[in-house]
Amino acid sequence: MKFSTALFFLVNFGRLSAQAPDGALLFNQNCAACHQLDQMIVGPSLVEMRALYQDKPADFVKWAIAPQKKRPNAIEMPSMAHLGEPALLAIHGYIMKAAEGAKEKKAAAGDRFAGSPTQAVRPLVMRIFMPDAGPASIAVALDSRVSFCWDAGPCRLRYVWTGGFVDGYAYWRGNGHGLAKPLAPVRYTEASPLLGDVAARFRGYNLDPKGFPTFRYQLGALEVSESYLPLEKETGFTRKFTFAVPVTDALALTFPDVPEKAGVRSDAGSWSGKVLTLPAGTTSFTLTHVFP
Ligand code: HEC
Repeated sequence: MKFSTALFFLVNFGRLSAQAPDGALLFNQNCAACHQLDQMIVGPSLVEMRALYQDKPADFVKWAIAPQKKRPNAIEMPSMAHLGEPALLAIHGYIMKAAEGAKEKKAAAGDRFAGSPTQAVRPLVMRIFMPDAGPASIAVALDSRVSFCWDAGPCRLRYVWTGGFVDGYAYWRGNGHGLAKPLAPVRYTEASPLLGDVAARFRGYNLDPKGFPTFRYQLGALEVSESYLPLEKETGFTRKFTFAVPVTDALALTFPDVPEKAGVRSDAGSWSGKVLTLPAGTTSFTLTHVFP
């Protein structure tokens, strides 16, 4: 084989593998809330998974599709069957690589989810099945007052409630198939996406040093990150949107109600009824939600 032919194959194999499911991204979206590299949190560490499943990708996939009750002190893992085999194999590949050479640390004392859910250390971000939201929901308690459900499917805020986090006890401890319930009535709902129906792709989330989340996602051509912080004095939160590049056209966001009634303010743009219009060139803006 001539050098140029070999190069051709290399380049094209490179392309093929670039199209394979992204194990790291899928892990981050679907498993990271319960599994850490070197420590048992809700579920066992990646180090332990590697010891169990290093050369057994098929058994790994089998487990993820139909998890069993195995560890006496753990909740039951929810089935990941909806991801499908290729995605689970990609996650297996990612985990085996990520855990290579890492060593298990002693588990943190106590159970994160034991006792009253309202006494949980805050802020708390967890992947859990919530009512009126898709299967990729993330429940977040910002502080002891404000919690919300963010849906990593359509990449948007679903609803917010104040006073108490989720009653996840039945979900975590019980059969694992039920829905967690907000512990207090919902105060704010975004029944439809602010920017209308735009194709969304979740890229994962980061936690800042205090544990407050930033969700990263793509909406159509927009690369967005959305960061949440609680308000100090009032009951409420800020939600800062940042775009990777300035928006080329004006953006119209449609809220569930006019700003006074929805309890929302913006540090940029102009309102007309329920619609907030941000000018072309916007790179970031912050919404402040306050509950009286
Ligand atoms: C809601 C929390 C949660 C999520 C999300 C989750 N797991 Fe788990 N996982 C657990 C728990 C809890 C256990 C331990 C269950 C037991 O031993 O009874 C576990 C155990 C495992 C094990 C060990 C199996 C064994 O034989 O001991 C593997 C492998 C695993 N999970 C893979 C995954 C993968 C892959 C994903 C994402 C696609 C994932 N988990 C998502 C909670 C979760």
